[in-house]
Amino acid sequence: MTPEDRDDAAAAWRLPRGDEIETYAPPGIDTSTPHTARMYDYFLGGKTNFAADRAAGDRIIGIMPGIVETSLANRAFLGRAVRHVARAGVRQFLDIGTGIPTSGNTHEVAQAVLPEARVAYVDNDPIVLAHARALMSSDGRGRTSFSQGDLREPEKILASPEVRDVIDFDSPVCLNLLAIMHFIGPEDDPERIIAVLREAMVPGSYMLMTHGTGDFVDDDLGDAAVEVYKNASAGVTGRTHAEIAAFFEGFDLVEPGIVRLPLWRPDGDGPTDEELRLILHYGGVGRLR
Ligand SMILES: C[S@@+](CC[C@H](N)C(=O)[O-])C[C@H]1O[C@@H](n2cnc3c(N)ncnc32)[C@H](O)[C@@H]1O
Repeated sequence: MTPEDRDDAAAAWRLPRGDEIETYAPPGIDTSTPHTARMYDYFLGGKTNFAADRAAGDRIIGIMPGIVETSLANRAFLGRAVRHVARAGVRQFLDIGTGIPTSGNTHEVAQAVLPEARVAYVDNDPIVLAHARALMSSDGRGRTSFSQGDLREPEKILASPEVRDVIDFDSPVCLNLLAIMHFIGPEDDPERIIAVLREAMVPGSYMLMTHGTGDFVDDDLGDAAVEVYKNASAGVTGRTHAEIAAFFEGFDLVEPGIVRLPLWRPDGDGPTDEELRLILHYGGVGRLR
């Protein structure tokens, strides 16, 4: 088949032409604005990103090269923290800010420990949902659901049929807020958002959070990164250790508390000082009192 034949066939099926494949996105998806989910996919070496995401991603990498190691460390934290909670017997996970599926998704990690574990995924990026539905399947007896929702509207997330179908709020739930709270600015009242979600959960529930911080970055570099995200789908707000700790009000922190990602219960020896220097996010796990 020649490229022209392929394009004719593609036109008949309304598929993208060869020269459009790079930029193809489902109808209605704006690829001209850098999107946080697709920039993160780019940092992780994924393929679901477009020119605008890669350009903004490259600017961030230029400002803080550790963002690539931080993104990888964030996925590794997800694995260790979800495993910890599943081993503690929690069978249901509400994962808000799912991200584009990659290796070690929440349901895969949880169901490797508890095959009956259930996961409700919620994200506000329609492209995430399109890929999640297509790529995530469940091998265990557990169940997964996907829905579009915005963390800034926690009541709507809690009321959504897709979430209610999978999560029983009368039993402990693990709330995953991984690399999402830094996209919630002060104007969105993050304390209220967490309080609404916390009040829906019974004691013995968990909250996992990872969060960008400026604690290890020069102020002018932090300001430059904030400028890049101003033109993206969401602005970014780095927070200090104390500000992130305040989000865990009502929770007992699991040891070692809120630390830079690779320091949270590492599988092996833990990071070297050189590796740690690159990490720009804190992570923590709390158990609801
Ligand atoms: C950096 S990715 C993190 C993905 C995944 N949680 C992880 O840690 O690997 C952030 C995700 O949060 C989503 N997101 C950002 N703001 C959101 C909001 N207000 N409501 C729901 N999802 C949001 C983005 O679309 C993206 O998929």
